[in-house]
Amino acid sequence: MLELKNIRKTYCGKCLDVPVLKGINLTIQERDFVMIVGKSGCGKSTLLNILGCMDYADEGEYLFMGDNIQTYKDKQLAYFRNRNIGFVFQSFYLINEISVSENVEIPMGLMGVRAKERRKRALELLRLVGLEEKARSKPLELSGGQQQRVAIARALANNPKVLLWDEPTGNLDEENGKIIMELLADLHTKGVTIVMVTHDMSFAKYGNRIVKISGEGIVDA
Ligand SMILES: Nc1ncnc2c1ncn2[C@@H]1O[C@H](COP(=O)(O)OP(=O)(O)OP(=O)(O)O)[C@@H](O)[C@H]1O
Ligand SMILES: [Mg+2]
Repeated sequence: MLELKNIRKTYCGKCLDVPVLKGINLTIQERDFVMIVGKSGCGKSTLLNILGCMDYADEGEYLFMGDNIQTYKDKQLAYFRNRNIGFVFQSFYLINEISVSENVEIPMGLMGVRAKERRKRALELLRLVGLEEKARSKPLELSGGQQQRVAIARALANNPKVLLWDEPTGNLDEENGKIIMELLADLHTKGVTIVMVTHDMSFAKYGNRIVKISGEGIVDA
């Protein structure tokens, strides 16, 4: 379903260039639940950003269900991403000036869903992540783990085919971690393809495949 071929990415700094991905090959099947692990700074977020069409690779090919999406123009790519991909960022990127519920509604607004329908679905999603009572709060009034759960609800807004989650360390306590992982396992059985970066090996067991990134490249662990 997702196919990366010889992906290269280098960040160009003022003094030196940092090659991060040096020819990554990775194929993710439909309905896979892939866990990505590796040391801090090894390129996990960089890889996930490319998978989520948030960034382009310098070289290589990215096929999404056979389509070379590296050739898509900005607007086409934005629509494609909003339609097919749910992305939970490592640092959430919630909008602090609007309510939790309005944050969850944003992707639906971009797809033209009507206000009443948006509000209803946002509440359903917030209930799913255990935050219905926080719907009217602003993101900064929430704890880190709660903000993360809002970001998950937002990522699910348009029923994505693919969910990408860049998990920050230590935001979810054991209980909420378990609730969220069971939610993901349930989505997975309903046919959603999931790729998750995690530092928590107790989460990794929920996946059906673990891949490890290092300086040498990417290997199944
Ligand atoms: N915008 C950028 N400009 C320059 N260098 C960058 C940029 N983003 C990331 N890097 C560098 O690329 C490397 C990989 O970063 P990346 O964020 O992908 O790591 P990571 O595996 O997600 O780490 P962590 O586990 O700490 O989140 C790091 O060395 C980082 O310093
Ligand atoms: Mg990262």
